Amino acid sequence: MKEPYKYNTIYLVGFMGSGKSYLGSRLATRLKVKFVDTDIMISDRFNLSINQIFETEGIEKFRQTESDVLSTIMIDYLPKVVAVGGGMPCHGNNMELMNNSGYTVFLDCPVDVLVNRIKNSEDRPLIKEHKRNLEIYVRELLQKRRPEYQSSDLILKKPSLEDLVSFTSDILGPESL
Ligand code: S3P
Repeated sequence: MKEPYKYNTIYLVGFMGSGKSYLGSRLATRLKVKFVDTDIMISDRFNLSINQIFETEGIEKFRQTESDVLSTIMIDYLPKVVAVGGGMPCHGNNMELMNNSGYTVFLDCPVDVLVNRIKNSEDRPLIKEHKRNLEIYVRELLQKRRPEYQSSDLILKKPSLEDLVSFTSDILGPESL
């Protein structure tokens, strides 16, 4: 169990559609800290959408940039909530770095909920080719990624904002209160 009031970062991890950005921005507001979204940071770096980055730069460059962005986040001492792109914890030693530098929360949602939330998404390049068998694709990829996600400090099943607030309100250091 990690000690309360010791961390400056809460990382929200989980599959596409698990609510990291939606809940993360609201959690940050409730905790009165800043909100950071790794996909937005990456888009801003290239001045391109996530689709365009995959198309023009390739997935390897995207993954490399995720790791670079994480390094930037880790040296920022300000208290914050970070929504982490769904694949980031599963590449390199990113999950270990997040576990060592903050408090990680896995937003664990059932496959049908994830599928419903992402099926009409236009800026998620990974699912483009799999729209016809999306449920199978999500199930298989989630299965592969689950061990990394599950190494989080906290696992919340079907999380609501209220769950998230009550489980994380004593995590960030006093300067954030
Ligand atoms: C990805 C998830 C996306 C984004 C990119 C790749 C993944 O973020 O980083 O499309 O590998 O699962 P969200 O989890 O915010 O959709």
